[in-house]
Amino acid sequence: MEQDVSNAPTTNRKLLRWVEEVASKCKPDNIYWCDGSQEEYDRLCAEMVAQGTFIKLNEQKRPNSYLCRSDPADVARVEDRTFICTERREDAGPTNNWMDPKEMKAILDRLLDGCMRGRTLYVVPFSMGPLGSDISHIGVELTDSPYVVVSMRLMTRMGSAVLKHLGEDGSFVPCLHSVGMPLEPGQPDVAWPCNGENKYIVHFPEQHSIVSYGSGYGGNALLGKKCFALRIASDLGRKQGWLAEHMLILGVESPEGERTYVAAAFPSACGKTNFAMLVPPEGFEGWKIRTVGDDIAWIKPQADGTLRAINPEAGFFGVAPGTSLKSNPNAMRTLERNAIFTNCALTDDGDVWWEGMTDEVPAHLIDWQGKDWTPDCGRKAAHPNARFTAPAGQCPSIDPAWESPAGVPISAFIFGGRLSRTFPLVFEAFDWRQGVYWAATMGSEATAAAVGQAAIRRDPFAMLPFCGYNMADYWQHWLELGDCYQNLPRIYRVNWFRKDEDGRFAWPGFGHNMRVLKWIVDRVHGRAPEPVSSPFGYMPRYEDLNWEGLDFSKEQFRRIMDIDRGEAVAEAEDQEKLFSEFGPRLPDEMERERQRLLERLKESPAVWQAA
Ligand code: GTP
Ligand code: SPV
Ligand code: MN
Repeated sequence: MEQDVSNAPTTNRKLLRWVEEVASKCKPDNIYWCDGSQEEYDRLCAEMVAQGTFIKLNEQKRPNSYLCRSDPADVARVEDRTFICTERREDAGPTNNWMDPKEMKAILDRLLDGCMRGRTLYVVPFSMGPLGSDISHIGVELTDSPYVVVSMRLMTRMGSAVLKHLGEDGSFVPCLHSVGMPLEPGQPDVAWPCNGENKYIVHFPEQHSIVSYGSGYGGNALLGKKCFALRIASDLGRKQGWLAEHMLILGVESPEGERTYVAAAFPSACGKTNFAMLVPPEGFEGWKIRTVGDDIAWIKPQADGTLRAINPEAGFFGVAPGTSLKSNPNAMRTLERNAIFTNCALTDDGDVWWEGMTDEVPAHLIDWQGKDWTPDCGRKAAHPNARFTAPAGQCPSIDPAWESPAGVPISAFIFGGRLSRTFPLVFEAFDWRQGVYWAATMGSEATAAAVGQAAIRRDPFAMLPFCGYNMADYWQHWLELGDCYQNLPRIYRVNWFRKDEDGRFAWPGFGHNMRVLKWIVDRVHGRAPEPVSSPFGYMPRYEDLNWEGLDFSKEQFRRIMDIDRGEAVAEAEDQEKLFSEFGPRLPDEMERERQRLLERLKESPAVWQAA
């Protein structure tokens, strides 16, 4: 292995210069250029097994798969350590952590100095989106974590083909990552190196560059995902006229073979993976859901106003707990082989387990912290944010067009949070502008708080932690699309999480969400009967949904669709807090929509009831 770049498998000048600069600052023992081959993947995994980072799972039960346990202090994204460093604070906006770029660079320079001592610097060239698609973009991650390298091979298109595509002067987004734990000569490594004192997940939108220090976990470390594909890409999209969104993409295929694609935004851990891989219930014979992506969508308007979308990722990094053959059989089958599991429990026969995977709980496990576990020990076997990483191509419901460079045409946008009250199962925005307002004011409950005391966190477009610039400008960007293009997709709000008086979910959810999705598809194609106008938007009647195979009465439907005027007014009034944070940058349309809603509510009955 090499410490200089004389044998580098690229002639890209910007890349060579950058690798040299980072190597001289971080001082790794070696530089290794990743080719993305299976041989390389297997070798790095074997090295991590020898090092104690990976546990090889039972080859009969789960071929070519590994379990990994993180440091207990490094188990999720760290939003309070995530920064947007623009020259002017107001360009990052009130919803982002901001720091002056010069100040941040000084901090990082100090931390990065010698931070890779005793480690290898891996050069990871990757493409977000199919290589060669005009919606795709290239990044290069420099990392001292082999876990990141193998994860990036599953989550992105990674390796030599990307370098070839870059050529001598192709451009890329530089993503620098270090676990922040240099090794002194002779110092033994730990299974999950990270920095317990300092974590910095930093974005420089004006340079389109990323530096991440101190964490090895998920969105903190796999820099193609949230850092590039959302925070940096959202900024690129604003400047270039496209969208980078925290959305799943799925295709609804009718028995006649008609395919309708929708994109849906739900906050983290609110069911994107489940919805993307939905299995239609009884009553929908011949209907199929095809998965394009489960977390991120890049969407580009075409000259005729069609929005074409790609999934920039190549794998799934999904929440493990709760995933079962009942709740998500497609995910379970995606994980049967070639997968990496992080912070799941280990069974006595060398397989993985997590809460909710099976009805029968194993009598003995090794938990996510490596400790003996029995059902009565009072601890969770898997960490609640334990995740699986697996290639998207292995998903039985994957769409045949999921890698199409042209993307798929989006016919509807769906937004939904976790809201136990006030918001009905589904409604359609009156128009684009009102749809933007409904997406911008979306909220979600942080926990399963008791009915009536739910703490709502506003999560506009499910992008609160992921928008790389001022959120008000982001809303303006969405509004401008509406001014530029005709026939844009209709916009829907859904709520799978409304609760009844006893605090139980009033909607069976999961596969049954197909009933709502089918109405949306019927609306898109002009087949649904004329909807009803409510104070919130257009709504289906009971008889407009297919209820075959589900015992759900007209009275239940009425309760899950009604709008309590008092609650709705309180909601609209509460939105003012969000809007006022943005001062003069708030687009006027947003406040105008809020006032219109208040006016409609004034004229509505105490409880507006669906037909
Ligand atoms: P990130 O990967 O963090 O962006 O999240 P995600 O949106 O992909 O979340 P995920 O699919 O992992 O969310 C799982 C959670 O949503 C679990 O708690 C599920 O029980 C719950 N969930 C998914 N679909 C439904 C549904 O239709 N109804 C109800 N009540 N819960 C659901
Ligand atoms: C999310 O938190 O929305 C995720 C997981 O998708 S992570 O990649 O860790 O951000
Ligand atoms: Mn996500």
